[in-house]
Amino acid sequence: MSDRIGPLRLALEDIRTARRRDPAARSNVVIALSYQGVHAVWHHRAAHWLWNHGLKSYGRLWSQYARRRTGIEIHPGATLGRRLFIDHGMGVVIGETAVVGNDVLLFHGVTLGGTTMSPGKRHPTLGDRVVVGAGAKVLGPVHVACDARIGANAVLVRDVPEGATAVGIPAKIRSHPSEREANTAASAVDWGDSQHHPDPDAPPEGVEQREPAMYYI
Ligand SMILES: CC(C)(COP(=O)(O)OP(=O)(O)OC[C@H]1O[C@@H](n2cnc3c(N)ncnc32)[C@H](O)[C@@H]1OP(=O)(O)O)[C@@H](O)C(=O)NCCC(=O)NCCS
Repeated sequence: MSDRIGPLRLALEDIRTARRRDPAARSNVVIALSYQGVHAVWHHRAAHWLWNHGLKSYGRLWSQYARRRTGIEIHPGATLGRRLFIDHGMGVVIGETAVVGNDVLLFHGVTLGGTTMSPGKRHPTLGDRVVVGAGAKVLGPVHVACDARIGANAVLVRDVPEGATAVGIPAKIRSHPSEREANTAASAVDWGDSQHHPDPDAPPEGVEQREPAMYYI
C-alpha cells in the first residue's frame, strides 16, 4: 500500500498532511508537538512494527499507552496507508483487521469496528481519499471505495461505491445533485408543465440560499 520511505520522511509527510488538511494549522512545530491525530499515527507505526515482528503483546501495550496519551485507539494489527489525517481525534477507534487507504481523512468519534466476535476479517476497508465525518460508525467487513464520503454520525453497514456519499442511520447512498436535478426535470416533462413543479431544492421565497456544508471547525 505504501512505498518504503524512512520514518523521519514519513513523519515530515504527516506534518505536511496536517498542515494541508487543517486550515487552522499555522506551524509545523505546533503540529509536531500537539496534534493528537498525528501522534496517534506515529504511535501506531511503532506498535504495528512490534505486532508484525512477533511482539504482539508489546504492540498491544504500546497501542494502549497511545490511547491514554491521544484518546485515539488504533489496534496494532490495523493497516494504515500514507497521509492519514485524524482531525480532532478524540474517540476514534480502529479495529484489528481494518485497512485504511492513502490520503484518508477521519474526524473525531469515528469507529471502524466489527460486528462479530469471530476472528478473521471483521472490520472495514477504506479506499484512498475516503472522508469519514465526525461520529460516523463503519461496521463490519464493508468496503468503502476510493473517494467516497461518509456523513457525520452515519452508521454504515453496507459497501459504498467509488465517489459516493452515504449519510444517515442506517447509511444510504445520497444521490448526486445532478441526478436529483435530472429527476426533477423528468417529472416536470412527465406532467407537461414545469411551472407546477418548482425546483424543490430552491429556498423558499425571501429566504437566502444556504452556504454549503462546512467540513471544518
Ligand atoms: C455527508 C457530507 C460529506 C455531504 O456534504 P455535501 O455533499 O456538501 O452535502 P450537503 O450539505 O449539500 O447536503 C446534501 C443533503 O445531504 C444531507 N446531509 C448532509 N450531511 C448529512 C449527514 N451527516 N447526515 C444526514 N444527512 C446529511 C443534507 O441535509 C442534504 O439533504 P437534502 O438534499 O435532503 O436537503 C457532509 O454533510 C458531512 O457530513 N461531512 C462531514 C463533516 C464533518 O464531520 N465535519 C466535522 C468538523 S469538526
